[in-house]
Amino acid sequence: MSNTNVGLDLERIIFIGRTFEEYSDIFNLTKEDLMDKKILDCPSGACSFTAIANQLGGDVTAADIAYYHPVQSLKEKGLQDLEHGIAHIEKVKQNYKWDYFKSSDELHATRSKALLDFTTDMIANPQRYVAATLPQLPFADKQFDVTLSAHFLFMYADRLDLGFHKATLAELMRVTRSEIRIFPLVDQTSERSEFVDEVLSYIQEMGWSYEVQATRYEFQRNANQMLIIQAAGV
Ligand SMILES: C[S@@+](CC[C@H](N)C(=O)[O-])C[C@H]1O[C@@H](n2cnc3c(N)ncnc32)[C@H](O)[C@@H]1O
Repeated sequence: MSNTNVGLDLERIIFIGRTFEEYSDIFNLTKEDLMDKKILDCPSGACSFTAIANQLGGDVTAADIAYYHPVQSLKEKGLQDLEHGIAHIEKVKQNYKWDYFKSSDELHATRSKALLDFTTDMIANPQRYVAATLPQLPFADKQFDVTLSAHFLFMYADRLDLGFHKATLAELMRVTRSEIRIFPLVDQTSERSEFVDEVLSYIQEMGWSYEVQATRYEFQRNANQMLIIQAAGV
């Protein structure tokens, strides 16, 4: 893949990823969701969700701006960001709930495994990993049944403005037939994002419907809800 059209320099990206198991709990995914639906994970970072779901017989595509870069660079960046991330969490341990992960060693081992599963699968199945720069996606209208989006919208409200949130939601909805699930509704300080209410009004303006669901997963304190947005007429 060429680096000439990279939308964002790799240094500016935080390249980490959750596991398949974390995603299943974050998005309250059922066996039926996984087996019967065409799913997009965007932005998917270094997650192992696509790798493992496809091994289990699912049909998942991953999209992220980082995928303009070669897999070896992503692996190095992922390892670096993992060390920085864990060192940071160690300093603010009280901002996290330590029942899903019992210790930062367990967190480190789990996230390293996610990175390894991701890089192995990206080499074996490159067609599943699509380079894309939101708020635009290189997919057809309604190409996916369900789109998942974790740790991006709301979380980086300090860098991504309300206009970006709306444009991204419109694009995610364009490529989705049934529903988008977004997690979490808080920002990095664990406060409800300043954009939640405006985004909910935007959803109504667009004729979509929504539901806020409690999740089985809470690691960062207060990051325990997902927003499900249903397409019009579903
Ligand atoms: C914190 S990670 C979240 C990854 C994953 N969803 C998770 O929950 O672990 C944020 C991801 O957003 C990607 N990203 C940042 N800006 C983007 C953009 N404009 N378009 C697509 N992806 C973007 C980054 O490359 C990074 O992988």
